[in-house]
Amino acid sequence: YLNYRVPKTRKDIFTTLVKGLQRLEYRGYDSAGVAVDGCGKVDTNSICLFKKKGKVKALDEELYKNDSIDLELELDTHFGIAHTRWATHGEPSAVNSHPQRSDKNNEFVVIHNGIITNYKELKKYLISKGYEFESETDTEVIPKLIKYLYDNRESNYVSFSTLVERVIQQLEGAFALVFKSIHFPGQAVATRSAATVFSSIPPFSVFICDTRIDVQSKNYINRVDSSNALHSVNDRMAVEFYFASDASAIIEHTNKVMYLEDDDIAAVADGKLSVHRMSRSAGEDPVRVIQTLQMELQQIMKGNFKAFMQKEIFEQPESVFNTMRGRICFDTNTVILGGLKDHLKEIKRCRRLIIIGCGTSFHAGVATRQILEELTELPVMVELASDFLDRTTPVYRDDVCFFISQSGETADTLMALRYCKDRGALTVGVTNTVGSSISRETDCGVHINAGPEIGVASTKAYTSQFVSLVMFGLMMSEDRLSLQKRREEIINGLSKLPELIKEVLALDDKIKCIADELYQEKSLLVMGRGYHYATCLEGALKVKEITYMHSEGILAGELKHGPLALIDYHMPVIMVIMRDACYTKCHNALQQVTARQGRPIILCCQDDPDISKMAYKTIELPHTVDCLQGILCVIPLQLMSFHLAVLRGYDVDFPRNLAKSVTVE
Ligand code: F6R
Repeated sequence: YLNYRVPKTRKDIFTTLVKGLQRLEYRGYDSAGVAVDGCGKVDTNSICLFKKKGKVKALDEELYKNDSIDLELELDTHFGIAHTRWATHGEPSAVNSHPQRSDKNNEFVVIHNGIITNYKELKKYLISKGYEFESETDTEVIPKLIKYLYDNRESNYVSFSTLVERVIQQLEGAFALVFKSIHFPGQAVATRSAATVFSSIPPFSVFICDTRIDVQSKNYINRVDSSNALHSVNDRMAVEFYFASDASAIIEHTNKVMYLEDDDIAAVADGKLSVHRMSRSAGEDPVRVIQTLQMELQQIMKGNFKAFMQKEIFEQPESVFNTMRGRICFDTNTVILGGLKDHLKEIKRCRRLIIIGCGTSFHAGVATRQILEELTELPVMVELASDFLDRTTPVYRDDVCFFISQSGETADTLMALRYCKDRGALTVGVTNTVGSSISRETDCGVHINAGPEIGVASTKAYTSQFVSLVMFGLMMSEDRLSLQKRREEIINGLSKLPELIKEVLALDDKIKCIADELYQEKSLLVMGRGYHYATCLEGALKVKEITYMHSEGILAGELKHGPLALIDYHMPVIMVIMRDACYTKCHNALQQVTARQGRPIILCCQDDPDISKMAYKTIELPHTVDCLQGILCVIPLQLMSFHLAVLRGYDVDFPRNLAKSVTVE
């Protein structure tokens, strides 16, 4: 947040920054920090850092407890930065939280969303140049690198944005960054970039609040580019700029926004904003339009989506990518889950794997059991936490027990964890919440990195749990010669997954049309087998929890042992029939259904005329490796349940009687 010639007390500045962070709390975080101008009682040319693990409220309290700075001091021009962190490298702690700094004098400070994939090489280089690192983050190389470049500059006239550009040229990964420096007081530089093909760029925008003129009524030039910068509007105006990854953080101050594109560098100096392209992108049109947001806060948090669940379904290309990010090397076919690597030898020696979870998290275990058995060559049990405890299941010291949980707080799963720990088993957490009870209490684990899930019905957590477990299988099988071809096939499949998910999401309109036909029904059966038994269980769970329709996931192999009695012309049934080892058997089940006048809606592969001609309707999906196909097949069922719930008039994000985190038995 930069105010130029808008007198504010330091308290106002803190309030603006902290409130902005609080608006982003819905996205989840584990620590927070701010950097503001001037320690001490007067505005000296220095930067003051405050960082705290935990809630933004704790950071807020810390700021007001601190009597070394004068909160009532009025500042004419000030640039402050603030950040909430969701740990990827290094545990949640004050030192790992952002802003990260160049040195003890805080000459340069940086906040960062995203990942720096070549940070280890940069860190090694900077250490060789005498820089000392204090955090475990990938981010810390950035302020150190800019200081190194500043200290070794060839001329005193180098600009802040030139330095930033030089830093970015050395970075690999995907990032949105904001820089602040004591060497460039009152100046801000922000950028957004993705330097690798597999990167997804964190969102980023500049928000402009012109406090003196009415943007609507004056002849306002609503373009910013390198030749025609915003300052041409009015050189003497007082102005406030907000850089944010999400409009919800600033919407109470302004609704004027300019979206930064990949490789843009936005710099404010002397109250003037200019946007430049990185030199590697020279030649592209740099015009950026200032837009007016028409949305309310709630809407902004949800973007253009009707519900968080819908937003989260559509986030899956990105969330699945984030689960893999920095863990798979597609060139060498290696997978490293940092949280497990020290225990890998022990896991390889175990007698069996037990996967434990509830609801959707249990289904992620069912979905990956077969591929885990194949890749680890170990027996794999998949258990519902409550039933596992009810049976006082025998557990031994040489068992490895996985606890799958989005929230990391589910009471049944947590109790099963304590039960297994008491019996001496190695415990592994697979959670989406850093610092949660399950992630703390397990011996080791994997953070699925799906980003916060707000809708009660779990969607993106399922696909990320699925990918995490497959990655575990790949890590376990790295030295098995006989499995190399299979591993290559799966890793190749994983690399294409985000794009294929996008293709599936493009079927939304078709799925909505099918939902239009089904929404007044009382029941919906979902049938499949093999890899897709889990898809059916998960699809049916989504339908029942948010539409309140009766829904059952049926193993097609069990059809003639009972469920076939349900089939007639009126019973809606969805079948999952993909080209895998169960294809012929599924075809048999299809014949049994159609012979009873059933009218199946079939999820099948593109171009499968044999299936299409027997279907009432088809939803044709792109093809991937058999063991990953469940990720693509579950998405139409997530979308279907969403549309059914909307058509039936229910609150999708908050289904009756259910809570997001079930912390009671
Ligand atoms: C279904 C759903 C629940 C959860 C279950 C476990 O959409 O969200 O079935 O999967 O309550 O929760 P976590 O994964 O937080 O342990």
